[in-house]
Amino acid sequence: MARVRTAVLISGRGSNLQALLAACAAPDFPAEIVLVVSNEPDAGGLAYAEAAGVPTTVICHRDFDGRDAFERTIEAQLAETRVDLICLAGFMRLLTGGFVARWRDRLINIHPSLLPSFRGLHTHERAIAAGVRLTGCTVHFVRPTMDDGPIIVQAAVPVLPDDDADRLAARVLSAEHLCYPWALRLVADGRAQVVDERVVLTGVGIPEPHLISPPL
Ligand code: GRF
Repeated sequence: MARVRTAVLISGRGSNLQALLAACAAPDFPAEIVLVVSNEPDAGGLAYAEAAGVPTTVICHRDFDGRDAFERTIEAQLAETRVDLICLAGFMRLLTGGFVARWRDRLINIHPSLLPSFRGLHTHERAIAAGVRLTGCTVHFVRPTMDDGPIIVQAAVPVLPDDDADRLAARVLSAEHLCYPWALRLVADGRAQVVDERVVLTGVGIPEPHLISPPL
């Protein structure tokens, strides 16, 4: 079975990258991580890739005059490594419409809220301030608008009375580490297809209400 050649773009800690690397270590997983790109030289996640023997490259946005030149350099690296699919995992740069269009339906992102609620930053503070009882995470195909695009997988977690943003973030992060490998598996298997700007899933079970969607 040819595995889908996947690049992961990071900017920092890399715990989602670590979850993806662990999933891809299984011989029957339908994707392999062939490249990790960081725009920050000191991103902690680079060490996870190195430990797994995955090539890394640092392409620092501050070294370029504008987003186009920065992205052209990333794309040259992706082409050289024959990448088919990109996972954004805590990548803190906005991508241009041109980049997003070229990678349409081959570019996925994880966001720490139940989209379309709480796009952008500080999601956990905002969820607590809004008084929602459930929050969670979303893996979605990327579109030009930030944190927008067809939803592949979501998981919900409760917001508890004593939560502060850090406690809630930790609970959501555990869900992220389940969701991102599941979403990558679905996309790489061809079981998550975009039809009329919604993701149609095939071969997945019926979700438990309010828990994780879909169970795999
Ligand atoms: C995660 O919460 C992810 O949802 C968001 O950025 C954070 C990255 O964390 N986009 P990590 O670097 O994967 O640990």
